Amino acid sequence: MLDWLSLFVRWFHVIAGVAWIGASFYFIWLDNNLRTPPDWKKQKGIKGDLWAVHGGGFYEVAKYNYGPETMPETLHWFKWEAYSTWLSGMLLLGIVYYHGAAVYLIDNQVMAMSANEAIWRGLGLIFGALLIYEAACRSALARFPTLFGLALLVVLLTLTAYLAAHWFSGRGAFIHVGAVIGTIMAGNVFFKIMPAQRQMVHAVANKLPIDPAWGAAAKLRSVHNNYFTLPLLFIMISNHYPMTYQHPDNWLVLVAIGIVSAWIRHYFNLKHLGISRPSILITGALGMLIIAYWVAKPLPSVEQNLQTNMESAAIAPLSELETHVMTIMQTHCANCHSAQPSDDIFVVAPMGLMFDSWQQIESRAAIIHQRAAVSKDMPLMNKTNMTEAERQVIATWFQQLSQH
Ligand code: HEC
Repeated sequence: MLDWLSLFVRWFHVIAGVAWIGASFYFIWLDNNLRTPPDWKKQKGIKGDLWAVHGGGFYEVAKYNYGPETMPETLHWFKWEAYSTWLSGMLLLGIVYYHGAAVYLIDNQVMAMSANEAIWRGLGLIFGALLIYEAACRSALARFPTLFGLALLVVLLTLTAYLAAHWFSGRGAFIHVGAVIGTIMAGNVFFKIMPAQRQMVHAVANKLPIDPAWGAAAKLRSVHNNYFTLPLLFIMISNHYPMTYQHPDNWLVLVAIGIVSAWIRHYFNLKHLGISRPSILITGALGMLIIAYWVAKPLPSVEQNLQTNMESAAIAPLSELETHVMTIMQTHCANCHSAQPSDDIFVVAPMGLMFDSWQQIESRAAIIHQRAAVSKDMPLMNKTNMTEAERQVIATWFQQLSQH
């Protein structure tokens, strides 16, 4: 049931996210490509003109200096893309990381805590960061947009990534930074962009003057959102790449990739304005290469971790069945799912899931049972030749565990 719910919510989340970011990219592109209109259009209050051909037809777009003389019958707003992406994202966070906190959010090697505490910390981080951001945008700092934007990206990203990485599992930490950015972005739409647009629409409808400051404040938030998109999208796919979130300095990996990807976004923003700066793309690519090289370097600390895991396994006395399960896991799973995999392809534990100690195995009993005894798609391609009898042992052990 939960897997199906997670599937549908994730599917919806991706669709809504594509619509949101797609619309956002399109409008930034549109704005940057507006050209001076002919005089007859200028007289109507149009400040920017754009022609496009797409899907077998010509489109003519006009941007008004302030607003049209009369309110059009239908006016499109583009807000539900943002809201539905945020709502489905929070729901997904709840289903995967809060309902499954013991498996996905809490890593006892980082910080031991109860599921409740982890959830409160997670929500505290997300809404705390939103509060700080909103306060900063209302302060005098915001009068220097470029400097403010830079400081925001670096300070906020570093702070949230550092805290999350020192509280949660690697995946849990990354997704929380993603949730912080997504919440700020949706908040920008909700708290600033929409109210400004409502003011403008109200003014046009009642033939009142439009204050350019309304649009300017909304524009600043819109630019922030634009630079946030690439770091956000990286975080959303980072779950597939354990070498990033499993790194001992994973928060620094996240900050570095975040900054480089926002830098690359800058290239495209300039390009739309007709300014070509290939040096940005080159330094961006170079930055990514340096990060890849740094992340790929072998880590001396891993061996130590393994040692302490083994020791902790030795301390707790295991029953006969548990010893049997431990042996099965060591022979069939730990060659991939380990701090030090011996597999020829997987050099980092897939999904960050490790079975080096009994504690790690026991706390993941439900998903081990699911994949090794129910869906039976683990070991991957049955690479380690797990037998039906061994799957049965896992099933028996899980049954016993659930009865207690
Ligand atoms: C050859 C390498 C390999 C072996 C051996 C292997 N796995 Fe996996 N495992 C993976 C990969 C790759 C993934 C991620 C892709 C996926 O979920 O299908 C994964 C994912 C998982 C997941 C999902 C984790 C999550 O967070 O959703 C579980 C559970 C799992 N493995 C359990 C096991 C168990 C139990 C065994 C031993 C019986 C095992 N694996 C053996 C490669 C392996």
